[in-house]
Amino acid sequence: MTGTTLARSQILPRSPSTRRVPVIEIRGTVGPVSGGAIVDTSEGPSPDPYGPDIFTEPDGEADTLAKLGPLAAMAGIWRGAKGVDQHPVAGGTGSETFIEHYELQPIDRQTNGPQLFYGLRYHTHIVKPGEVETFHDQVGYWLWEPATETVTLTLAVPRGQVLLAAGPARADASGFEVSAAVGTEVYGILSNPFLERNFKMLDYRIRVSVNTDGTWSYDEEGLMAIPGRDAPFTHRERNTLTRIGPPTPNPLARAARADWSLGIGDLRHQDQRLP
Ligand code: HEM
Repeated sequence: MTGTTLARSQILPRSPSTRRVPVIEIRGTVGPVSGGAIVDTSEGPSPDPYGPDIFTEPDGEADTLAKLGPLAAMAGIWRGAKGVDQHPVAGGTGSETFIEHYELQPIDRQTNGPQLFYGLRYHTHIVKPGEVETFHDQVGYWLWEPATETVTLTLAVPRGQVLLAAGPARADASGFEVSAAVGTEVYGILSNPFLERNFKMLDYRIRVSVNTDGTWSYDEEGLMAIPGRDAPFTHRERNTLTRIGPPTPNPLARAARADWSLGIGDLRHQDQRLP
């Protein structure tokens, strides 16, 4: 992250020569950067892809599982027994293997005015082999925005730390990366004062790969500044998850299926007093 000032993220308009990707407007010296593609914004900001009406919501699909783009293969309940972790310890670097239970359940489509997301609410719980005590716990959402072909990750860990990461992806991609950087007003990292002083997370990225055997894998890196150390520490984890249970369809999808099986779908739409 040296020499880089991240100002704000934008979305490029679709045109024959430009695909919509999240981009970072760079002010100052350009160095390694996270959070999406780098573009030269010297000609000024790109037009807003959402248009001037910030209140009207687009139509969306009831069944989130059918609209998850590159996240579709991750829906469900998963287990990974071969996780590997690299974390900071007093003398340098500690390493452990771990066992992970990762649940990702579809939520109803979400809108911010014209912006439309489909997503998965997740909880991952990690223990060391043979242990009961939590080694790592994490909750949040994986979101897919079809209109801009963007994946967004919200991440909260019970250390008093949250982050919002994003990255570009095609709907049919079998892999993608999202990232966040400290000190930005969008797609950033926020920590409590102790962590900010002692384990300051400068940059975070996670690469997800959907494998041909139905498993999926991740490789994540958090770059931390630790007092007294010459270089940032790389907190890295990797795991491969095998499905142990199906996802539960989102509430709107369940309601639509119940209507269909009872044959009252039309009636419900005609009579708003029905629940
Ligand atoms: C598989 C995932 C992860 C595992 C197994 C893991 C495990 C660990 C371990 C063992 C430590 C050092 C000892 C300790 O204080 O507990 C540590 C430190 C830390 N981790 Fe993680 N971690 C994971 C992911 C994350 C993520 C995603 C974040 C935030 C984005 C995070 C933030 C931190 C921070 C800030 C520290 C430094 C605080 C400290 O050492 O006391 N970790 N982690």
